[in-house]
Amino acid sequence: MDYHKPVLYDETIENIITDGRAVYVDCTLGGGGHTEGILKNSSADSKVIGIDQDIEAINFSKERLKDYKDKLEMFQDNFKNLDTVIYLAGYDKVDRILMDIGVSSNQLDNVERGFSYRFEAKLDMRMNKELEVSAYDVVNKFSEKEIADIIYKYGEEPKSRRIARNIVEYRKNKDIETTTELADIVIKSIGKSMKRHPAKRTFQAIRIFVNKELEVLTETLDKAINLLNPKGRLLVITFHSLEDRIVKEKFREFENPCTCPSDIPICVCNKKSLGKVITRKPIVAKKEELEMNNRAHSAKLRIFERGE
Ligand SMILES: C[S@@+](CC[C@H](N)C(=O)[O-])C[C@H]1O[C@@H](n2cnc3c(N)ncnc32)[C@H](O)[C@@H]1O
Repeated sequence: MDYHKPVLYDETIENIITDGRAVYVDCTLGGGGHTEGILKNSSADSKVIGIDQDIEAINFSKERLKDYKDKLEMFQDNFKNLDTVIYLAGYDKVDRILMDIGVSSNQLDNVERGFSYRFEAKLDMRMNKELEVSAYDVVNKFSEKEIADIIYKYGEEPKSRRIARNIVEYRKNKDIETTTELADIVIKSIGKSMKRHPAKRTFQAIRIFVNKELEVLTETLDKAINLLNPKGRLLVITFHSLEDRIVKEKFREFENPCTCPSDIPICVCNKKSLGKVITRKPIVAKKEELEMNNRAHSAKLRIFERGE
């Protein structure tokens, strides 16, 4: 099995590679697919910085990309520390920042990581094993209201209250130890659906909560925009509407940060545009990619370019 098949590969490479020397940051190294594309297509004197919070991704990419040692530097860190990583790599600003967020296929398909409702595994879902709260803690230690709110907010699951009630009922007898135990509770709570696995939203919600994915994304976009050189680009690939909405709204705010009421004739807040949105509509996968990679169905690429 591949570690991870990168989505929107051609579209990303086409929009990220510059004519001359550049410093690139891949915030989500994963299996190194996009990074390899950048390494192959960029000028010989360019530099690439790769970040992933998952040590397994770093170790895999180290081996895969060992021929590019001089051009590539890798860091195991959360991308919210992008500014520190760039500083440690020896730069103040960079030319391209890529974020291909969410989980890799390896994380989802690796039974031991406890991310998936498809395999029996100990509930975990931490992308970085050093995080304090795992999925096990959420379902076994949080209150019914807290669980319902998480499933509603991060999974947009309309039956979140019923699922939370049944989780709390079940754990009165024994802890919920495994992914399949949790999936069964969800199925019993809301029934089966032909369209998607009933536990999909609940699992997504708990994973997003455990890894603080939306807060980290928002914080990192604010940092990333200020770490770009003039004409630098920020490229973000998202996989569900909650993430995409954050990126779309942030990009809009970067383009037009003015907070003055629309009925006053001149701007008094003096907030200047940081550049322009390159993708009015997000770039989505073409038919050929959709046929080969199921994950590509929900992928959306948005690009922002800094002004001069
Ligand atoms: C969709 S995969 C990236 C795949 C990669 N583009 C490739 O071509 O193989 C997402 C990766 O980002 C990492 N990741 C997610 N959130 C992160 C964060 N806040 N900080 C650092 N890495 C993160 C995950 O561990 C995972 O390896």
